[in-house]
Amino acid sequence: MDYQAYSHIYDDEYRDYTDDAQFYVRWGRRCNPPALELGCGTGRILFALAQAGCPVWGLDMCGPMLDKARAKLAELPADVARRVKLLEGDMREFDLDQEFGLIYLPFREFMHLHHEEDQLNCLDSIHRHLSPNGRLIINLYDIDMIALVQRNDNTVPLIRQHGGDYTDPITGHKVYLSSATNYVHRTQMMQEERFYDRVDPSGAVVDRRMVTISQRWFFRWEMHHLLHRANFRVHELFGGYDRQPVGEMGGEMIFIARPATEKELVFEVDWLQNKLARLRAARKR
Ligand SMILES: C[S@@+](CC[C@H](N)C(=O)[O-])C[C@H]1O[C@@H](n2cnc3c(N)ncnc32)[C@H](O)[C@@H]1O
Repeated sequence: MDYQAYSHIYDDEYRDYTDDAQFYVRWGRRCNPPALELGCGTGRILFALAQAGCPVWGLDMCGPMLDKARAKLAELPADVARRVKLLEGDMREFDLDQEFGLIYLPFREFMHLHHEEDQLNCLDSIHRHLSPNGRLIINLYDIDMIALVQRNDNTVPLIRQHGGDYTDPITGHKVYLSSATNYVHRTQMMQEERFYDRVDPSGAVVDRRMVTISQRWFFRWEMHHLLHRANFRVHELFGGYDRQPVGEMGGEMIFIARPATEKELVFEVDWLQNKLARLRAARKR
């Protein structure tokens, strides 16, 4: 993942993207403090929670993304800044000695975990830090199966102009976004090269930057089972930030999960013990 290179561009690209922040603010207000954002980056969402009065911690593994967040933190009023704690670390394995009422992975962070072992380790770390009545929120792409099937597997990348062209606030240059994405069906991986072409007033491209992003896509019921296996239960599933149901493919999936209750865990343990007893009995025969 190329977030070191991305850190110089990220805030300019997403300056006007505010669709999701208020969704997390509402959950931050509903759940016991503090909240924890995994993959907090430059603090786009995390600072919205702090400004709304919610104590929030942010964890990210990319130093340069966190440096941007720290620079913003230094500019905040003291009462807001006091609510924020930023930490460098890996969401696949963390130990913070703190219980959280809300842990959230916005903007498809979980899709950065490509392997089952990483996904389960991350969910296990979350489980250890989430209060028994807490909430876990995971946002994923709802991959568009029809578009996927119509495309050849990993032969020709999908080239497109991206939404999100922006104007550099310092130079005034227009920056145009385009990308080339390979969808590898067998591994459920999207491998994207994103290009940022900086254009001067005469229309000449004066600079091209490239960022590579690799994301693993998940299907709805795959995620459902993964959460169950990690001892969570899906509490709600939304198809967007207005809490709409999952609709047409190609949009968002926002899983709201909770830790399994004691009763649910006892049921699982009984079931496993039963299975083990039958296996042992069969071996003796
Ligand atoms: C798309 S950015 C999103 C930042 C922020 N959450 C937002 O919505 O603007 C993804 C972030 O996840 C971080 N990240 C990716 N894998 C990670 C991991 N294993 N542990 C911690 N952070 C990770 C990256 O460094 C990056 O800052």
